[in-house]
Amino acid sequence: MDKFSYAHRNTSPESAGKGAVRFNKPDIPPELRAVREDAFSREIPVAGDDTLCFLMAQAAACGAKNILELGTAVGTSAAAMAFVCPDARITTVERDERLHAEAVKNFNGLGISERVSAVLGDAGRVIEELSGPFDLIFMDCAKVQYIKYLPRLKALLRPGGVLAADDVLLYGWASGEAEVPKKRAMLARHIEEYLAAVTTDPELVTAVVRVGDGMALSVKKQL
Ligand SMILES: C[S@@+](CC[C@H](N)C(=O)[O-])C[C@H]1O[C@@H](n2cnc3c(N)ncnc32)[C@H](O)[C@@H]1O
Repeated sequence: MDKFSYAHRNTSPESAGKGAVRFNKPDIPPELRAVREDAFSREIPVAGDDTLCFLMAQAAACGAKNILELGTAVGTSAAAMAFVCPDARITTVERDERLHAEAVKNFNGLGISERVSAVLGDAGRVIEELSGPFDLIFMDCAKVQYIKYLPRLKALLRPGGVLAADDVLLYGWASGEAEVPKKRAMLARHIEEYLAAVTTDPELVTAVVRVGDGMALSVKKQL
C-alpha cells in the first residue's frame, strides 16, 4: 500500500497508554479489532482509540439511524458506528479503489454489509447525488476539501443532527501552536476557514475538542 499523500498523524497504537487515550478502549467485536490492528500495522490512517470512542459515543448520543461517512479507508470507523447503532444504515464514501474493495470485504466479513452502503467515488461528487437527511455525518477525507463540502453537508444534515469533522487541529497548525510547513500552507488555511465557518455559522452550534488530532462537532440548530 502506498503512503497517503495527504497529512494525517500516525494513529498507531504507540500513542496508546498516554493521556485520555488509555481510558478509551473501543467496545467493538474482536473481528473488528483484528481489522484495525491490521490497518495500523500497514499505516493506513484509521481512527485511533480516542477518536473512535468519541465518535461511537456521539453516534449513540444522537440515536443515529442514518449515518454518512466521507473517507472509508478499510471501514473501521464505519463498522464501529454500525456496531454501536444496531438500527443504523451507513453510507460511506471512498475514492481509492483498493481501499474501497478491502472495506467491502471487511463489511461482509463483519456481517454488516446489509446495513452499510460502501460507495466508490469522490466525496465531493457523491454528496451532490445523495439525499438525506442524515443524523450524523463523519467527515474524515481530504481535509483541504472540508470547507468546500460544508454547505452541501449542512443541507444533508437533519435539524439536531451532528457533523463531526476529524483532524481539524492537525499538528497544531490551524490553532497556531505549531508553525505551518510551506508545503502545507494551503491545507492549514482551508482548515482555518472551515473552523471559522462552523464556529460563526448561526445555523450551527460547534465545539472544537482535543480528541485525536482535533474534532469539530457541529450540531445543526433546530430553528
Ligand atoms: C483518514 S482515512 C479514513 C479513515 C476511516 N474513517 C477510519 O477511521 O477507519 C481518509 C480516507 O479518505 C479517503 N479520501 C480522501 N479524500 C477523499 C475524497 N475526496 N473522496 C473520497 N475519499 C477520500 C482516503 O483515500 C482515505 O482512505
